[in-house]
Amino acid sequence: MNDEYAESAEFIDLLISPFWNDLAPALTEAIKTAAPGPVVDVGAGSGCGTAVIAEAIPEAEIFAVEPSAGLRTALLARVNADDSLRERVTVLPDKLLAADLPEQLGLVVAMNVIGHFSPTERQAFWELLAARLAPDGRAVLNLQPPSEPVDIPEAVAATRQVGRRRYEVRARARATSDTTLTWHMTYRTYQAETLVDERALNYTWHLVSESVLRGELARAGLRLHTTEPTDLGMFTITRAPA
Ligand SMILES: C[S@@+](CC[C@H](N)C(=O)[O-])C[C@H]1O[C@@H](n2cnc3c(N)ncnc32)[C@H](O)[C@@H]1O
Repeated sequence: MNDEYAESAEFIDLLISPFWNDLAPALTEAIKTAAPGPVVDVGAGSGCGTAVIAEAIPEAEIFAVEPSAGLRTALLARVNADDSLRERVTVLPDKLLAADLPEQLGLVVAMNVIGHFSPTERQAFWELLAARLAPDGRAVLNLQPPSEPVDIPEAVAATRQVGRRRYEVRARARATSDTTLTWHMTYRTYQAETLVDERALNYTWHLVSESVLRGELARAGLRLHTTEPTDLGMFTITRAPA
């Protein structure tokens, strides 16, 4: 399996956790009244969202689906460090569409991940939701900008100081088709002001706008709802009324 996070896995928890300062309360609000039933965290990464889900729904069984071996190492370490997580989180080493999941799901969370899904994979994802979401179940996901094929100039996306070292990720994007960008990421490590490590990598990101998403979901018998605060680009998905 091609692991797009093989080079960057050791830095992801450090550099994605600042974004969770805003995402965590919004996700908590969006899921705290979720239907009972197993929860799936799609592309759980290092488990920032898994921990938020576990705290928001203390009785929930969680399936954390994470195909990258490097990120799964961080995820399993997080789960293992907490008795409550270790008892009720199952870590699955697959891509979502290959994962062995329960027949009925109360909640599916897909944060910072939907751009990894091609249009065909998205359709299969929506079919999975239509087939397995409990009648009062829901999914929560976010759309990360941009939704249009535009070039994005390089900027520092996140930094984190750990001991004497500072970690930094820079991101720029190139529009590669009407519906894809290629993100170019550079991960740098500094000790004092000296650059001691640099890794550059690229990955494809499939663009999806709110209106495209709404249309795709409607065709699968699902309905899209905006979630506050709207600047986070978070949405809830439910079954459309029969
Ligand atoms: C940007 S990270 C987000 C991690 C985590 N959700 C967070 O927000 O902290 C995207 C994650 O999606 C995973 N991923 C990519 N394609 C996937 C797929 N088809 N099924 C499940 N996970 C996938 C990657 O391995 C990576 O961990």
